[in-house]
Amino acid sequence: MSQEARLVVVSNRVAVPKARGAAGAQGGLAGALNAALKDRSGVWFGWSGEEAEEHSGEISTQTTDGVTTATIDLSKRDVDEYYNGYANSTLWPLFHYRLDLAEYERETGKGYERVNERFAETLHPLIEDDDIVWVHDYHLIPLGERLRSRGVKNRIGFFLHIPWPPTRLFVSLPYHERLVRTMLHYDLLGFQTQEWLDSFLHYCRTELGAEVDDATGSITLDGRTTIARAYPIGIDWDHFTGLKDTGDSRQAEQRLLSSTRRRTAMIGVDRLDYSKGLPERLDGISRFFDRFPDRVRDLVFIQIAPPSREDVESYQQIRALLEQKAGQINGARSEVDVVPVRYVNRGYSHAELYGFFRAAKIGLVTPLRDGMNLVAKEYLAAQDPEDPGVLILSRFAGAAAQMQDALLVNPHSPDDLSHAIATALDMPLEERRRRYEALISTVRDDNVQDWTSNFLRDLDAR
Ligand code: G6P
Repeated sequence: MSQEARLVVVSNRVAVPKARGAAGAQGGLAGALNAALKDRSGVWFGWSGEEAEEHSGEISTQTTDGVTTATIDLSKRDVDEYYNGYANSTLWPLFHYRLDLAEYERETGKGYERVNERFAETLHPLIEDDDIVWVHDYHLIPLGERLRSRGVKNRIGFFLHIPWPPTRLFVSLPYHERLVRTMLHYDLLGFQTQEWLDSFLHYCRTELGAEVDDATGSITLDGRTTIARAYPIGIDWDHFTGLKDTGDSRQAEQRLLSSTRRRTAMIGVDRLDYSKGLPERLDGISRFFDRFPDRVRDLVFIQIAPPSREDVESYQQIRALLEQKAGQINGARSEVDVVPVRYVNRGYSHAELYGFFRAAKIGLVTPLRDGMNLVAKEYLAAQDPEDPGVLILSRFAGAAAQMQDALLVNPHSPDDLSHAIATALDMPLEERRRRYEALISTVRDDNVQDWTSNFLRDLDAR
């Protein structure tokens, strides 16, 4: 692409680079995009995360560490209807195959459209002629079409960080057609995996009657053509592995090692979200201790789970359930000097997580459904190649498509989880090394810089 083309990134949440430890530590959008924006002059536009009395349309800009951010406040009603409502109570559960949790409210749907319109209105004057615009995630699906209606002719791409559900589930969304039609105004659509892409193409073909070419990903409807492809996101390898020799990571590693002593530490790091399979994970651990009661002296499980989306009821429920389950296991299995589960409701910096991952000989990443999951990749990146830990990974995470040499599990099955934990705990060094070697090249080479340049190369070619 021409290096002159400025990049405008748009996402619901904007994280300034210095804050990446806090917002990006759990993987996902924030950490990835900071790396992408660093070498390009441009703007990252989004919601400030603040609630104002009224939405004023005022933009506040800030340049930190080479990245300019431009943010707007939203009113309480906007946040309720757009963020807590349609984005996180309708689209998020539905796209993670949780029809049972998806709420369909006309008012929140309207709020979602209103906020997308606000984004278009405030962003439009910031877009210069040759800019490339890259919109992210399910909060902003209609934004491209809203910008087009204001006459924006620039190349605009959209990347979905979460799964795209099968057509049979997706059609339960009222006005599903309207939402997908807005997507066809982008020049390029990116998905995390071939599986989510296939579901999207299937929908376009069967429900919209679009002309779809599976080989090129081109979708033509009403004389307009857009391209849809899979771009699996990766981690910022250089940055993350560079944390190895920092004081924070070493201290974190020592802290974990000295507090677990002769026990093997097994770690999970997830936003507190029902898609992450946390209650199911604890059921698997409980099953493991039922089968092998003596191994309470061999294994300690550390679950780091910072609370998330706390105004949404389903998130309050999952939190209560986890407290109960962690308490039950500890009540039943603790000795005066051993506690099997450490359940921690806070976030840590990337450097500290690096240290914790390195000290933990098992990484447990078992979402029920996940667009990609960068924790799986970060866990591996932090391992000592001479003595690597074992990654247990859900077959329903997008990352599983690239990581077939992990111990793949069905996260719904306590027996499967329990069996995988036992296998990981006793896995000989030779097999651990073999699996690590087979996995590490995709983690290192298919990194976030690669992801960004692949997407922008294809957007530029449109
Ligand atoms: C997922 C989404 C991101 C989101 C992140 C944190 O990774 O794909 O768009 O930013 O979760 O969720 P939050 O609601 O706190 O922004």
